Amino acid sequence: MSLRERSILSLQDLTLDETEQLLTRAAGFREDGIAPTLAGRRVCGLFFNPSLRTRTSLEIAARSLGAQSLCYDVGGMWPLELEDGAVMDGDKIEHVRDAIGKFLSGVVDLIGVRSFPDLGRPYAEAGADALVQAVEEAAEVPVLNLESTLFHPMQGLADLFTLRNHLEGDPSDHTIALTWAYHPKPLPMAVTNTALLAFCRAGYRVRLVHPSGFDLDPDVMACAQELGGDRLSRHTDMDEGLRGARVIYAKSWASHASYGNLEEDARQRALHKDWIVNEERQAAADPGAFMHCLPVRRNVVVSDSVLDGPHSWVAEQARSRVLVQAAVLHEVLA
Ligand code: CP
Repeated sequence: MSLRERSILSLQDLTLDETEQLLTRAAGFREDGIAPTLAGRRVCGLFFNPSLRTRTSLEIAARSLGAQSLCYDVGGMWPLELEDGAVMDGDKIEHVRDAIGKFLSGVVDLIGVRSFPDLGRPYAEAGADALVQAVEEAAEVPVLNLESTLFHPMQGLADLFTLRNHLEGDPSDHTIALTWAYHPKPLPMAVTNTALLAFCRAGYRVRLVHPSGFDLDPDVMACAQELGGDRLSRHTDMDEGLRGARVIYAKSWASHASYGNLEEDARQRALHKDWIVNEERQAAADPGAFMHCLPVRRNVVVSDSVLDGPHSWVAEQARSRVLVQAAVLHEVLA
């Protein structure tokens, strides 16, 4: 099936061949530059949360392809009602069906959405990815998930692209430690969920490393286990999980068990302030190339020496967001 006019809310929406098609296109753009194949098309990004890399990548990619790019932050849109049949006498000004279905779908060719609710909301609510789903249902044009509570597919593509630039041969010869790290606040699980599933599906040997109590969504874990089989292992000791790893991918996330309970989450994470990727832990890896999606808290999640060191792939990982974003826009719209 072609990617043309398709929405991408998760990398699981794509076959392995379609993922390959996007990564190959991104590599072509790196070699040859990005040709203006989307002249006259319009791309609109709706950002309900802050963003530097995703927004910049969407705008640069769209403009490099010759398309017009429009991005709105949460204060620049009317608050959206999502519920069907709602009597809108509260603080929601416009229904998603009107904003997206009746208006935006008719004047732009693609809509990107970043939306993850406040981490103080219960998981049952946040984990439904209601806004992204509602926009996709209301839209008559393709929708890209630019990070929701559950998934961040554009980041996942950049992560795969970066790995492939460095790791040759059989993916199962390479071990990636996908590790939780301390962060003073709870963060969405979207990057971790996406990386875990993508790396398992691509055939890498994956170690999921996190303290007890910081398990991921059980449905995501079940899917990862199915994709990874005996190539996936779990570790609750950071030193053990990182030892001998070819790549260390660090990311913090909220405790699933106490999601929405900020006090309990804070109490749990405060027990693990020593979960930092530092020189000593990198030295025990092999060679422990460092990845992080950014933004990152220096000397909390990772030490300066690792982040700025010779085995850091972070700059390449972040900059490749433009290439993979352009590949997605091209394949979906050209
Ligand atoms: N990694 C990432 O998505 O960065 P932004 O939040 O800055 O977009």
